[in-house]
Amino acid sequence: MDTILITTITITSITGVLAFLLTLADRTINNYGEVKITINDEKEYVVEGGSSLLSSLMEQQIFIPSACGGKGTCGYCKVKILEGGGPVLPTEIPFLTEDELKQSVRLSCQCKVKQELKIQIPEELFNVKEYEATVESIEDMTSVIKKLRLRLKEDEEINFKPGQYIQLKAPIYKGNDEEVYRAYSIASPPSQKNYIDLIIGYVPNGIVTTYVHKFLNEGDTVYLNGPYGEFCYQDDNDREMIMVAVGTGIAPILSILNYLRENNIKRKATFYFGAKTPDDLFLLDELKNFEETLFDFKFIPTLSRITEEHSWSGEKGRVNNAIEKYIMDGENKEAYLCGNPPMIDTVVSVLKKIGIPEELIFFDKF
Ligand SMILES: Cc1cc2nc3c(=O)[nH]c(=O)nc-3n(C[C@H](O)[C@H](O)[C@H](O)COP(=O)(O)OP(=O)(O)OC[C@H]3O[C@@H](n4cnc5c(N)ncnc54)[C@H](O)[C@@H]3O)c2cc1C
Ligand code: FES
Repeated sequence: MDTILITTITITSITGVLAFLLTLADRTINNYGEVKITINDEKEYVVEGGSSLLSSLMEQQIFIPSACGGKGTCGYCKVKILEGGGPVLPTEIPFLTEDELKQSVRLSCQCKVKQELKIQIPEELFNVKEYEATVESIEDMTSVIKKLRLRLKEDEEINFKPGQYIQLKAPIYKGNDEEVYRAYSIASPPSQKNYIDLIIGYVPNGIVTTYVHKFLNEGDTVYLNGPYGEFCYQDDNDREMIMVAVGTGIAPILSILNYLRENNIKRKATFYFGAKTPDDLFLLDELKNFEETLFDFKFIPTLSRITEEHSWSGEKGRVNNAIEKYIMDGENKEAYLCGNPPMIDTVVSVLKKIGIPEELIFFDKF
C-alpha cells in the first residue's frame, strides 16, 4: 500500500515539475517576437507573440466571447484560424464538431500566437467594446441572488439585443490573483443604453460571484465588455413564445419581456419560472404586472420543494411538469430557455415531444 502511495506521489511530483519547467522554458527560451494577425482578410494587427490568441486579441480591443475566462472549459471562444494555428490540441477536441474541425474552427484561448496568423471572426465582434461603469445599486433578490445596476460613463452607450450577455471583470482581490471575466445576461431592456442590470447568483468559492457578493459596493468602478450571444429575441415572426427560466436564468427573459412591452409587440407569451421554495422566487410583483401590461401574457411560477409549512396555492413541481400540463401542442410556438444545463436538457426534450422543432428552441445554459 505504502509503495503504491509513494510511487503515485513521486510520479505526480515529477509530472508537475516537468510541466512547470516546460512552461518556464516556453516563456523564457522561446521568443516569438512580433507576430502579424490578419482578420477577415482586411484588418492587420501586430502583437507580441507568446500569449493566447484570445488575450492577444483582447489587447487589441477585439473581444471574443469567453464565458470561462480562457480556462478551456466553456467552448465559447471559437474563431476560424485559416493559417498559422498549428495542430488542434487535445483540450480543444471536446468542444469542436467534425464540421467545425473541417472548417478550421479553433478555441482561441487554447491557441498560442507563435507565427503569422490569418483568422476569421464574425463582423459583429468588431462592435464589442470594453466599458467602465459605476455600481449604481446592489439589491438582494434572495439570500444568494443580487441585482446590480451598472451605469456607464456619461457619454457611453451600449447597444444590444434583448437576451444577449456581457462579460464582467473581477479584479485581483484577496484570494484571487488574476483578473477574470465571466458572462452575465443583461436583465435591462435595450432601450436603456446608459446602464445595464445584471442578476448574479452566488457560487461558493466562485471567483467572480465572490467578488460581486462579498467585495463589491455601490459606487465602485467595474469593467465589462460586450454585447455577445446568439440567444436573443427573434423579431422575424409572430409565433407564440414559451419562456422558461430557473434562478438567475430570469435575467435575459426580463430584458425580452420589457422589450415586448416597450415596443407594444402583440405576441402571445407564457413565462414558466421555476424555483424550489417561495424564498427562492423574486421579482414576483414585476412579473405579475406584465400580465396587466402585455398583450397576451401569462406568468406561471412553479415550486418543486413545497411542504405543508409553506402557504403556496400556485403550481407545484418542476418547470417541465408545468409545461407538460399547460402546453398541448407545438404548433406555431417557439421557446426561450435559460438556466442550469439539466433543466434545459429536460425541457428541450419535453418541448420536442410536444412538437416544437429543435431550431425554434433557443437557450443559454449556465
Ligand atoms: C451566456 C451566459 C450567461 C450567463 N448569465 C448569468 C447570469 O445572468 N447570472 C448568473 O448568476 N450567472 C450567469 N452565467 C454564469 C456565469 O458566467 C458564471 O459561470 C458564474 O457566475 C460562476 O462564476 P464564478 O467566477 O463565480 O465561478 P468559477 O470561479 O467559474 O467557478 C468556481 C467553481 O464553481 C463551479 N460552478 C460554476 N458555476 C456554477 C453553478 N452555477 N453552480 C454550481 N457550481 C458552479 C465551477 O465548476 C468551479 O468548480 C452565465 C453564463 C453564460 C455562459
Ligand atoms: S474561453 Fe472558455 S474555452 Fe476558451
